[in-house]
Formats: sequence, structure tokens, C-alpha cells
Amino acid sequence: MSYSKSQILIDTNRTIASISPLLFGGFVEHMGRCVYEGIYDPKSPLADERGLRTDVLEALRDQAYSVIRYPGGNFLSGYNWLDGVGPKEKRPSRRELAWQSTESNQFGTNEFMEFCQAINAEPMLAVNMGTGTIQSAADLVEYCNVPGGTYWSDLRTSHGAHQPHNVRYWCVGNEMDGPWQIGHLDAVAYGNKALEAAKMMKWQDPTIKTVLCGSSSDKMLTYPDWDRIALELAWEHMDYHSMHYYAGNHDNDTTSYLASVVALERFVDTLEGTLRYVKAKRRSKHDVYLSWDEWQVWYKGDPMQGSWEEAPHLAEEIYNLEDALVVAQWLNVFLRKSHVLKIACVAQVVNVISWMHTRQDGLLKFPSYYVFKLVSNLARGEALDVGVRAPVVETKLYDGVPALDVSASFNAETQEGAVFIVNRSETDPIFADIEWQDRPSVCIRQAWQLAGTDPKETNSWERPDHLVAKEIAAPPVDNGRSAISLPPMSFTVLSTGIE
Ligand code: AHR
Repeated sequence: MSYSKSQILIDTNRTIASISPLLFGGFVEHMGRCVYEGIYDPKSPLADERGLRTDVLEALRDQAYSVIRYPGGNFLSGYNWLDGVGPKEKRPSRRELAWQSTESNQFGTNEFMEFCQAINAEPMLAVNMGTGTIQSAADLVEYCNVPGGTYWSDLRTSHGAHQPHNVRYWCVGNEMDGPWQIGHLDAVAYGNKALEAAKMMKWQDPTIKTVLCGSSSDKMLTYPDWDRIALELAWEHMDYHSMHYYAGNHDNDTTSYLASVVALERFVDTLEGTLRYVKAKRRSKHDVYLSWDEWQVWYKGDPMQGSWEEAPHLAEEIYNLEDALVVAQWLNVFLRKSHVLKIACVAQVVNVISWMHTRQDGLLKFPSYYVFKLVSNLARGEALDVGVRAPVVETKLYDGVPALDVSASFNAETQEGAVFIVNRSETDPIFADIEWQDRPSVCIRQAWQLAGTDPKETNSWERPDHLVAKEIAAPPVDNGRSAISLPPMSFTVLSTGIE
């Protein structure tokens, strides 16, 4: 077998920006079995006294989620948050129109806060801009963040939550550009409503950070005008602008699919340009950053409507090797764009378009689980601008792309670093020389690799550990130089320190 030669050049002074810890977030929606039978399942023998599934909690902690966005999603735009608070036996059961399911409301805002505490993640709440009013949005901020002595804060106390939740991150609506959204608006109507909602919400608590709804994907006909118009209207009252994107191998063209980060990178670049344009146009000193608060692979066609069942099986995608390699490159994009991208939430954390599936007696993890876990635990400090020389892979959709997709991080405080390398060639192993140009004393402490021979291979209940990231021998480093062999369709992670 002949190897192609490549080079990875790292200089810890060549930084992009600090990596925001909030890039490793997740999303929990009242959809399918994400909440019920996912994170919350009081009847399960695996549940704790709060009804939270302990095996799910452990896996979420293992992935080091920093922030969780809740409660939707399309669900949000028909949701009255008052249905989900107070004594459980008095909470209404409702027909939920977005996913045509029945919502029991047994899990709501206060249960979500307990869940976030249990996994040590920051809550990110979303307010309804579909059927919801700017008043109900501001009331929820008061309910959550005001210590007491007012109507809504006392109501929270009466529900047993004596301390304020101090929720810092607030999404002002969800995908309001989409005609599928309950109460969909055009960009002008949404920009104006979001501005007025954010004003009231910040009057309730000036320390909160707000997120404007951006385009639901770069395929929307209104993209990127939607973003520009909504931003021009609401700029001064917003801190983040959201992006959503679901990738997929729609034409079963693995070569192009494995290069689809080209489109993801372009999406960020366009929105970064839009942010700069609006800031200049408004003569503003204020900055708005990007929040990629829904991202994942999603295209395999599992049902999306629940026939009015409670916790129906919806969008329970099975993820394979090629999906995991797309996820790995997506995370590389997060690091490479860390100067403008500050929040990201994978949709969703369990069962629904998720790399974890539950059943009564256990939890199954698909290969992307191991990819996310490695990056979210190791990417710390500054993102580095890595130089890469690699053979070119020709693709139908994106022309020629380098076979290697790489990102790296370095934490000056601990002197620890990490390198994340995808070989997206389906056929060619690559032998890469790695050079730390400013650090002759660097050593590789640990290395892991996830690799397979068939892009469609994956884990199953019968073979749950078929594709996992395996620890491999750490390659030796001599005077800042090392070399590593990267199999085709592989993800390799190196964690580094100094001798
Ligand atoms: O995450 C599933 C759905 O995808 C969300 O409800 C919606 O925001 C998006 O279209």
C-alpha cells in the first residue's frame, strides 16, 4: 500500500482566538423521545429520585456539555411556559402542533434547571415568538431570574425553586424565518418583535445575553437577507445571532459528503460578513457573535410526526462512520471560526437526531459520540491557525479539497494542546509529518483514532462497541517533529504537553 505524504505545521503563537467553552453545547427539545424516555423517565429502573435517567446523565457528563438549549425548536413556538411549572398533577396535557404529539408537561422549566445542574451545564432558555407575546417572554425572565418579592418570582418560589435560576443565555424565538414555524413572521416583523421582546427581557435582567433567530439554513430563499434585515432592526439589543444547519448525504455521494464542511465554513463566512456590514451600517460599537445553536447530521427519513402519541419515536437517526467524520470536521470548523463563533449546540442530546439512543435497559452510542467527547474534553485555550499540506481529493460538489481537515488548540496556562485530524480520503492512507514550529520540547501524551473501512458501518445494540475511538501508541516527538499514519476515513486526536 503506498502512502501519500503530508505536512501539518503548528505554531502556538499563530492563534485565531480563545475557544469559547460554550461551543460544546447541546439542545433538548420536547420532541419525540428526547425529554420523555430520554433524559426524563421516572418509571425507568435507571431513573434517580428526580426521574432523570442516570445512564443518560453519565453519558452527558462524559461528553462535557457546557450549555443546554431548551425547550425547542419548533415546539417552542406553540409552548406556554406556564403549562410546565407548578404541581405536576395540575399541569395540562396538550396537543402539540409542531410534532403532532401529546405533551404531558410533566417536565418543564424547573425540572430542566435540575437537569442542567446534574450535568453541570449552563441553561440556555428560548422564549416563544410564535404564539407567545413579548410580555410572556419578559415574565419568564422575571420568573427565572428575579430573587423574589414580585408576582412571577414569588410564583417560582411557591413552586419550590427558592433560589433564582439566573439564566444568562436567552434565544428570542426559534427559526422564525421558516414557513413551517407556528406564527412564522417575515424578517421585518420578526426583527421588530425580537427587538421589543429583548428590550423588556433586558429590563427585567440587564445581565442576560440574547440570541436573535438567524436563517434556518443557507438553503432558505430569504438567506442572507433575513439575517441582515433582522440584525439591522434588533442589533443593539442582541448579543448573538443564531445559525441552524443539518447536513446529509442526500445523493449517497460519500466523497462530496466528506467535504461538506466547505459549505459549513462558507455559511459562517457569509454571516460574519453580514455582522460586519450591519455593525458598520449602524455605526455601532456593539458586537454580535454567532451562536450555531442547532447543528447535526439529519436526512435519513425517520418519521417526524407523532400521530398524537406521547413520546413517539421521531427522527431517531442511526449514525455511521461517514456521519462521525462530518461531525469531526464540523468541530474543526468551530475551532477555526472561534473568533466569531461563540456558542454551538448539537441537536439533540439523546434519541432525537442524536448519537445516543435509549431503550428500557440501556443506552447505545454511535461513533460521533466518541468524536464529540474527545473534542469537547480536549479543546481548551486558544484555537490555532494550522498549516496543512495534503493531497487533493476531487469532489462533485466542492471541487478539490485537501484530504486532511485539521484543527488544533493550545492552553498557555497548562502548556497542554490538542490536534484533531480527519483523513477524509476514502481510499488513501496518509503519512503526515507534524511540526511544532515554536516548541521543540513538545511531547505527545496520548493519541486516539476512530477509523473504519466502510463509510456505512456503525454500532448496534448487538455490536455496541464496533466503532469507538481507540487509544493508540503516542508517536514519539523529536525536537518538535513527529510523524503519524492516518488511515483512510479516520479521525485522529493527539493530546500534547511539554517534556
Ligand atoms: O431539532 C429539530 C428541529 O429542527 C427543531 O425543532 C427546529 O428548530 C429545526 O428545524
